Amino acid sequence: MSTEPDAGPRPTARATAPPAPPGRDARAAHAAYGAALTETGLGAHAVGVLRTNDMGGWTKAAPLLYPHQWSWDSAFVSIGWAHVDVRRAMTEQQRLFEAQWRNGMVPQIVFNPLAGPESYFPDPARWAVEVSPEAPVGVAETSGICQPPVHAIAVARVWEVALGTEAEPEIRSRLRLLFPQLLAWHRYLAENRDPSSSGLVTTYHPWEGIDNSPRWDGVLGRLEVGEVPPYTRRDVQHVADAGQRPTNAHYDRFLWLLELLKRYRYDDAVIHERYPFLVKDVFFTSVLIMANRALLEIADVVGATQADRATIRAWIDRARAGIAAATDAASGMVHDVDLGTGAPIEVATFAGMSSLLDAGAPAAQRDRARALFDSADFTGHPDLRWAMLPSTSPRAECFDPRNYWRGPVWPIVNWLYWKGLRDGGDTARAAALREAALDSLRHVGFAEYFDPMTGEALGSAMQSWTAAVALDWLAS
Ligand code: SER
Repeated sequence: MSTEPDAGPRPTARATAPPAPPGRDARAAHAAYGAALTETGLGAHAVGVLRTNDMGGWTKAAPLLYPHQWSWDSAFVSIGWAHVDVRRAMTEQQRLFEAQWRNGMVPQIVFNPLAGPESYFPDPARWAVEVSPEAPVGVAETSGICQPPVHAIAVARVWEVALGTEAEPEIRSRLRLLFPQLLAWHRYLAENRDPSSSGLVTTYHPWEGIDNSPRWDGVLGRLEVGEVPPYTRRDVQHVADAGQRPTNAHYDRFLWLLELLKRYRYDDAVIHERYPFLVKDVFFTSVLIMANRALLEIADVVGATQADRATIRAWIDRARAGIAAATDAASGMVHDVDLGTGAPIEVATFAGMSSLLDAGAPAAQRDRARALFDSADFTGHPDLRWAMLPSTSPRAECFDPRNYWRGPVWPIVNWLYWKGLRDGGDTARAAALREAALDSLRHVGFAEYFDPMTGEALGSAMQSWTAAVALDWLAS
């Protein structure tokens, strides 16, 4: 059984270990995971991860577990590349958008044509997206779903880094080419994924972002799983401890949903009518608000029409109203809505504070989200190794500190919240989160995710997007 390489090159440069935060067993974490990297060491290793995973124009999400171009991974990766080479950062996004579907969808995975079918499951044959007239057949092999729209956020960051450098004119021209594609992508989400104009994006599959989050347990539990053609999981061949990955029962459901999407030819109208996994996803929607705000910045750079700007502003307003409507009056949490039952999904995860991703959300809503963020249910939990947002509240019954999205800390999620806090003027809280995140990365390395209590590196090592956000935090 092969396993992912260990969590990045181990530190060679030693730094004085920071004092243990009160109530946290930092010493045990040090003993287990080695000394901390210096800031310079962290940056150099992060660049090393991007270069190792660079396939020339696009970047593997991770060396073995994720050997293709993933949509939202690649957006974060561009943010990382921006600090190394802004042209390379733009190329990453332009390559991804070459695989955009005719209806505007940016696919979750663009497969590497040179990697064999054994490299990852499900492979292009299982997705069979050619059943859809919208798929980019002949251009690229892709999966048939999408992921959170971090792309405009990434491209706006690339522009910010390019401003005032000799690359600025070239990046501006390349932004002009990309702007209509970004707009088409956001239009797809605003229209095809929200036919009732609720303001909230409908997601079709756990792989559209937060994989095995307990947010989906209710919907998945109701599924009647039909016949799934036999399959071999590749992920557990790369991560030795299956306890860090989704269960086989989850995988059977993931694969059954894929069969249904294929049966419905990936047609959004049919899917909205018949399909059993339809969730109004508040995290996805809030990332879209952040992305539309970034798209307005890009609209200024490329001289977009007033009509396009008005459209983007209307999308933001509608999504904001959707998030307000999805906010629980008693707890202040924002809840997804299970369209199968019409009921809110009341699970305590980071998604409950999605209002913090929208710097322009009403102050009262952000205040409540901030209180939750600070509370012992989340970053204020006394046993956390670092005051960072775990994927699921440590106080929730379903919390599992080592299993994928059921408890561990994901640095990229914390990057989004850090940006939302900073853009919303919450500079002290944002600075504290950045400090905590950088310290965690110096100790943990560029793992895909880590145990919030012990800081143990989990999942894949040398994860591109983790290295990318490290570079951005170092530069910010
Ligand atoms: N994260 C999924 C996986 O584990 C796909 O996006 O393969």
